[in-house]
Amino acid sequence: MFTSQGPTLRELTVQALSSIEHGYDLLAPKFDHTPFRTPDRMLDAVAETLRPLGPFGSGLDVCCGTGAGTRVLRPLCRERVTGVDFSAGMLVAARESADGESQVPALSWVRADARALPFAPAFDLAVSFGAFGHFLPSERPALFAGVHRALRPGGLFAFPVGAPPLRRHPLYWTLLGFDVAMRVRNLLWRPTFVMYYRTFPLGGVREDLARAGFTVALHPLEEFGRRPDGSPNWRLVVARKPV
Ligand SMILES: C[S@@+](CC[C@H](N)C(=O)[O-])C[C@H]1O[C@@H](n2cnc3c(N)ncnc32)[C@H](O)[C@@H]1O
Repeated sequence: MFTSQGPTLRELTVQALSSIEHGYDLLAPKFDHTPFRTPDRMLDAVAETLRPLGPFGSGLDVCCGTGAGTRVLRPLCRERVTGVDFSAGMLVAARESADGESQVPALSWVRADARALPFAPAFDLAVSFGAFGHFLPSERPALFAGVHRALRPGGLFAFPVGAPPLRRHPLYWTLLGFDVAMRVRNLLWRPTFVMYYRTFPLGGVREDLARAGFTVALHPLEEFGRRPDGSPNWRLVVARKPV
């Protein structure tokens, strides 16, 4: 949850009334003190699952924010790790937090929109954490096509996806309420701020990945336990660009 070092309610309100890009520019200096930064527990579980599939050459963290995913990539990649995000503020914070750390493998930051990634096939592993709520379903094909283009043949695109909460769980209604409030906000206010919790269902995501040319495997993240029906609470989607 939020700590005393995190943003105030007033700051969060101003950010929520901005565009996504500008909202994150404003939030950037305090982002690592918010619950929006992907927790280390998730990063570690993903790194453990990816390790046997490596080692990898170059890695790409899509929507890197302050660099959470680059922490997964750096021990797995031998050549280079690149973080890409469209918020200049988040990239500054990412660069600053990595400054004192080892630069092996080489680390670089690129400002670009993930819906139009500017990369030729140069990466062996792409990851993304905590950002897919910012994309409408209609934007997924461009996002996935850009990652596919950025990967070398045989390259992997990996990201965690949580199981949707059951209707009887209070979280179900919290997320539904959040999404409804955001839709009302976006009807009434410009610029829009796309952030929805229920627009990234595994079924539709798998179909879009397949259409983009990936073959898809799912790895349970056992660290996060299972639901009463035995299915995992969290899975790692591992989409491969065929050789
Ligand atoms: C919740 S933060 C997650 C940051 C980081 N990946 C993490 O897990 O801590 C979402 C990030 O996605 C970025 N983002 C959202 N839409 C984007 C887009 N269309 N292109 C590039 N970056 C985008 C935002 O600027 C922000 O840094």
